[in-house]
Amino acid sequence: MKPQTPQSSKMAIPEQSSKELAEAFTKTLSLASRSVHADDYINNHQAVAPPLHVSTTFRYSRDPEKLQPWNNHNPNTPHDSHIYSRDSAPNTTRFEALLTSILNAPAISYSSGLAAFHALVVFLNPKRVAIGGGYHGCHGVLHILHKLNNLQQLDLTSPSDLALLQKGDIVHVETPLNPTGEARDLAYYRQLATEKGCYLTVDATFAPPPLLDPFKWGADIVMHSGTKYFGGHSDMLAGVLAVRPDRGDWVQGLKEERLHLGSVMGSLEGWLGVRSLRTLELRVRRQSENTQRLVEWLDGEKAKRGVVGEVVDKVVHASLQEEAKVEGSWLKEQMPEGYGPVFAIWMKEEVVAKKLPSKLHLFHHATSLGGVESLIEWRAMSDQKCDKRLLRVSIGVEGWEDLRDDLIQGFEALKAEK
Ligand SMILES: Cc1ncc(COP(=O)(O)O)c(C=O)c1O
Repeated sequence: MKPQTPQSSKMAIPEQSSKELAEAFTKTLSLASRSVHADDYINNHQAVAPPLHVSTTFRYSRDPEKLQPWNNHNPNTPHDSHIYSRDSAPNTTRFEALLTSILNAPAISYSSGLAAFHALVVFLNPKRVAIGGGYHGCHGVLHILHKLNNLQQLDLTSPSDLALLQKGDIVHVETPLNPTGEARDLAYYRQLATEKGCYLTVDATFAPPPLLDPFKWGADIVMHSGTKYFGGHSDMLAGVLAVRPDRGDWVQGLKEERLHLGSVMGSLEGWLGVRSLRTLELRVRRQSENTQRLVEWLDGEKAKRGVVGEVVDKVVHASLQEEAKVEGSWLKEQMPEGYGPVFAIWMKEEVVAKKLPSKLHLFHHATSLGGVESLIEWRAMSDQKCDKRLLRVSIGVEGWEDLRDDLIQGFEALKAEK
């Protein structure tokens, strides 16, 4: 399948994002420039840095003639008029304006990635959701919805389950996949969803821009745990849904439902989010390059007779998938800018997997991913069902050679204890 291009070059700076910028430049601005400027139109203060507004409520007009129910439009701040922060607020509005530009589609924020997934399923209201492996929390959300309305969870990898899909159901694909960082072929799932009359929703948390644009491959809704790369500093929880531009007023519908679900992001998080998105492209490119180098090195060393090969059983990452070696493969086309910054290591024994994090100095032993600091997690700590020899690694922006040397000394310390 050929990648689908946005309807017009202006699409990359969506209307609600920045008319002024779109008019000033005849070309589409780069992702890096849009990350810094796509919310400028909202700024009605002289301050260059965005203020943090913590108010939950906003004054109505003092002129009784101007009072209109559920409308607090202020002509002096046309893009920054609010009523109550469960509906909208200044910092999250700027965060959403940036995301709308960065993701090439109208975007809405939530209090966490799982809140976003919950909102997505509630909005589309399917009878069945086909979902593969990946982040176990999303399965947990479906489990709760099953309790409420008997929603059925189908296995994306089972032909007999897929045969049960019907019009209006959801095909939900996570790519790259948690915890291994392997990628999935979105064109294949788009075709499957189209044949069955289903929606295609994509959890692209592991490959933020510029690494992947699932809309090019026909996604109806793209979801991100904004806690990861959008936040990027391990200090905020957020979730994001972006809607394919030709889906009309879906974002308005999601916004109306969010008002009642109450799963909005906090203002502090919105402020942190804006600050973080400014450097998204820099961070993600660096993290992706670091990862590619480390994975290549680790995988190469594993085959040799040395300390790595003695303790490591296998390394898994999109860059090691067969299709990554084939020019023109779906993987190369889907991720031309590089692969995600998370990969998995299977150690030879459970005991060494459990110990390795304690031997490292630059990797924090912690769950989550996407921050500037590298993390390693003995995955059994937060996913009881996974193989106990599995370590999930999230690469940060440190120098990759330092991370490599830290791993070498960690492997050597393990060997010395044997
Ligand atoms: C792929 C993926 N999707 C969704 C989530 C949930 O995001 P959050 O923790 O922000 O709710 C995670 C969290 O790790 C994740 O890895």
